[in-house]
Amino acid sequence: APSDPDLVARARAAKEKLGDKVFVLGHHYQRDEVIEFADVTGDSFKLARDAAARPDAEYIVFCGVHFMAESADILTGDDQQVILPDLAAGCSMADMATAEQVAECWDVLTEAGIAEQVVPVSYMNSSADIKAFTGKHGGTICTSSNAKRALDWAFEQGEKVLFLPDQHLGRNTAVRDMGMSLDDCVVFNPHKPNGGLTVEQLRNAKMILWRGHCSVHGRFSLDSVNDVRARIPDVNVLVHPECKHEVVAAADYVGSTEYIIKALEAAPRGSKWAIGTELNLVRRLANRFAAEDKEIVFLDKTVCFCSTMNRIDLPHLVWTLESLAAGKVVNRIEVDKETESFAKLALERMLSLP
Ligand code: 13P
Ligand code: SF4
Repeated sequence: APSDPDLVARARAAKEKLGDKVFVLGHHYQRDEVIEFADVTGDSFKLARDAAARPDAEYIVFCGVHFMAESADILTGDDQQVILPDLAAGCSMADMATAEQVAECWDVLTEAGIAEQVVPVSYMNSSADIKAFTGKHGGTICTSSNAKRALDWAFEQGEKVLFLPDQHLGRNTAVRDMGMSLDDCVVFNPHKPNGGLTVEQLRNAKMILWRGHCSVHGRFSLDSVNDVRARIPDVNVLVHPECKHEVVAAADYVGSTEYIIKALEAAPRGSKWAIGTELNLVRRLANRFAAEDKEIVFLDKTVCFCSTMNRIDLPHLVWTLESLAAGKVVNRIEVDKETESFAKLALERMLSLP
């Protein structure tokens, strides 16, 4: 549905009043009505860099989810304030790894006598606490666009990787991009004693994958791929690496949201694409490329938004911008200094990966 014109006018007026003081970041999964007001859009890697690149902006309004706003706070100056328009915009995957659980996991690895060989690699989609754990133990952060580079680096530092919290991105990168086998990977289940693993399994594994996943990307199945291939001959299947391994293995192309956009920009006229990622982005791309005669469909038959990304809507954005314009800071996300210093180590390691 088109946006309420009154709200659009209010958002414009508040943003104009704030001028260069405010910088609005929009993740690709945000609603159209929000993306319209974003100064930049991007995947989580690009947005982390973009936030760090605007030291002059007093307010960074992050239209995305909680962990992204935390990362922006870590990477921006102390005098800059990062704001999340709805505090309930979390990420179910990031919530699957808590600091306590990860500390317990490290104890298990220590008892198995392997902790010294293990380098933690944490997906951007994790809390600041997990990023701090990663920095403290000599590891790095990665995103879906640099996971292979992060793993290459980690395997130069140690023999094993503890990959948090997305088992699928970890497995897909290890098997698809680095030539490991499925047997090189084990899954650590934080809800079971010793992660549900024997000491021998831990000692033999190269990749210790945390048992987390994205509920949005987890909905795509091998059936979704087979169905779309039967329905649309010559379709190119392009999926995000948060999808299950069997989906990624059956796809033609795999990449981050930024990769997906670039692939479609470069696609020839008349080509057909089924995309396995969040629906706001897929719909926007389908509309954008229809004029170029590129047919773009959603990989699954059921509707699949990220419900927490969708919490940021125009009313929340208007409220945020109007409050800031009136001199009132709302919904500030602030990581404590101790956590920030270790998390920053891990994030900076990522930003300096070759
Ligand atoms: P990217 O934007 O890094 O591709 O990640 C997708 C995602 O799920 C963000 O939450
Ligand atoms: Fe988290 Fe998945 Fe939503 Fe991304 S799409 S924010 S990983 S739940």
